[in-house]
Amino acid sequence: MSQSPPKGTYDITPSPLSDEVKWHSSAYWVHVEALAKKTAELFGCSYIATPIFESADLYMRSVGETSDIVSKEMYLFEDRSSRKLSLRPEGTASVVRALIHKRLFESPFKRLYYLGPMFRYERPQSGRYRQHRQFGVELFGSLSPYTDVEAIDLMLSFYASCGLKDLTLNLNSLGTPECQKAFAQKLKEYLHTHKSALGEDSQRRLETNPLRILDTKDPKEKELLANAPKLIESLSSEARSHFEEVEKLLSDLSIPYTISERLVRGLDYYTHTVFEVTSSSLGAQNSIGGGGRYNNLVKELGGPDVPAVGFATGLERVVQTCLAQDTLQEATKGVDLYLFGLGAKAHPETLKLTTELRRAGVSVLMDISSKKPAQAIASANKLSARHFAILGESELVEKKLQLKHLDSRTEKSVSFANVAQAIQTSEEA
Ligand code: HAM
Repeated sequence: MSQSPPKGTYDITPSPLSDEVKWHSSAYWVHVEALAKKTAELFGCSYIATPIFESADLYMRSVGETSDIVSKEMYLFEDRSSRKLSLRPEGTASVVRALIHKRLFESPFKRLYYLGPMFRYERPQSGRYRQHRQFGVELFGSLSPYTDVEAIDLMLSFYASCGLKDLTLNLNSLGTPECQKAFAQKLKEYLHTHKSALGEDSQRRLETNPLRILDTKDPKEKELLANAPKLIESLSSEARSHFEEVEKLLSDLSIPYTISERLVRGLDYYTHTVFEVTSSSLGAQNSIGGGGRYNNLVKELGGPDVPAVGFATGLERVVQTCLAQDTLQEATKGVDLYLFGLGAKAHPETLKLTTELRRAGVSVLMDISSKKPAQAIASANKLSARHFAILGESELVEKKLQLKHLDSRTEKSVSFANVAQAIQTSEEA
């Protein structure tokens, strides 16, 4: 039996195997997910968790049957009672389903965030996995461009809290479904006259979902699209003024953005504003997050007429960008104190002091193994503990520790009663 995880997946563990997979190290994940929660809560969002599998039908009706995600990448299976289920490829559809099911649109809890795995059967490569983790936010109940800007600002605030720089916010508007239909017809007409220049995939999309061709990576097709009709020209005056207001509000907040005329996103539920953030520190898979407005999805899935806007960000790509930009030094700091109980006689007092310190909010790793002191301090260093102390027979008598600050290599004598305060004040210093 192979011990590797399934293709396109990975394990998050406390210690990285090598620099290449440093991003597998759990310390970074704990740190980044804590920042995600903190940022979402700063914007008044509540936590939601939905199942990791749902009826396959949910995604066909929301993400869209002709989208790549549903038609090529979804993990589909039948359970023992022949129900057609799917591992969730994304989070928005489940959140909407759960809110309809629990009638939460009538409650004030309409700003939600989630953290969890998503599954897409894609060709694995750096930054693209078959199981990836997303931090997502969905804001329900407002048609206002102010809410689009809040969603965008929440996403950017999360990246800023991770210390990320050199990101580009790409922005576009898809308008209403009617604007999209009108544009799709114009694009279809234009591309039909150049059909032979299109690849197999785009020829198929021309019939099923022409807008998706705008996403192409093929240089020849990109050239062709340079002269194609523009989506922005098919926007109704209402859609155009919504988008202009989003632009104005972003400028008022000094949030830089780039209009990206070909940004359509790979999910069918979007209306009006769509956005994506890219990082120059990543390779081909450079989109760290994306989202947009979806005013019709709640109704289409059987709920009331409630508009919404949201985004999701891939945490693998966030952690990788953080490591590329070296922003996560804080994350790898270990416990406040590595306390080594030297000799069995000192163990009861070591446990007692450990317990008192933990109750005072100091994190302690207690070691009562038969290690030598030099081995204990080597372990403390490997685990990036902030302080190290030995509690042996002489410390028992004096009721004092020699508290070593491992970074600065300074040490001081502190009575048992003052250890918590000494550690807390040394952290502030
Ligand atoms: P999405 O653009 O499909 O949007 O995915 C969001 C983010 O998840 C991407 O920007 C990327 O960072 C990450 N991601 C997607 N697929 C993979 C993969 N195979 N491996 C690694 N990372 C990946 C959505 O899922 C929408 N539900 C976002 C949304 C929420 N729109 C409105 N509300």
